[in-house]
Amino acid sequence: MAGSDKSIWIIANWKSNKTIAETLDWVSSVGSKLPKREDLKVVVCPTFSALSEVKKAITVGNFPIMVGSQDLSPFEAGAYTGEESASLLKELVELSIIGHSERRKNFSETDEMISKKVKRANEAGITPLVCVQDEETPVPEECKMIAYEPIWAISTGLTNTPGVGRADTPEDANKLAIRFKQKYGKELEVIYGGSVTATNVKGFIIQSDIDGVLVGNASLDAEEFIKILKACKE
Ligand code: PGA
Repeated sequence: MAGSDKSIWIIANWKSNKTIAETLDWVSSVGSKLPKREDLKVVVCPTFSALSEVKKAITVGNFPIMVGSQDLSPFEAGAYTGEESASLLKELVELSIIGHSERRKNFSETDEMISKKVKRANEAGITPLVCVQDEETPVPEECKMIAYEPIWAISTGLTNTPGVGRADTPEDANKLAIRFKQKYGKELEVIYGGSVTATNVKGFIIQSDIDGVLVGNASLDAEEFIKILKACKE
């Protein structure tokens, strides 16, 4: 980011991990060591069951961290058992990850459902962050922020096993980001996700058209996440 004045999103996607106690430990560790930078926009996306505790801990600690959800309902509030509607979530979250490849694969989410979720999020004033897996994934109308996350790059970064898996290269990710912006408008923010760690994060955020990172595995450990934030500062 050196020499650039763009602001950078660092978004933690905890997936289905962490008890409430673990969650609160993470918030106090990260919150108290957060580098003070106006141009770093830090978001944590815990499980639904931890959302209100995380929100409370961040508010009490006055930490510059936003809260996001990992999904939301395509329906409005009402008789939809088990769903988390945007109009209720808006009390707790500012952003919602939508259409993650794990949801597309394990819960048969379609592009049509994802479009509905984007609409619900926008109606509620929640920023939808739509995950796209490759250049062919459609970006719904009214979506201003996407995460390019190639499926083969997800959750391989901490294995340290050569040849088993890898993040995309920052240069390739940037090429994709440029193409998405050409197709959907230059105001579209493009985040990269897939095996981001403290070691490789800088390579992504210095790219001309990458506006941040979505971090899964490496965000679970508070120390590693702080290293990621510090690496962005260097
Ligand atoms: P990862 O996950 O950082 O563990 O690869 C990223 C994601 O799935 O959002």
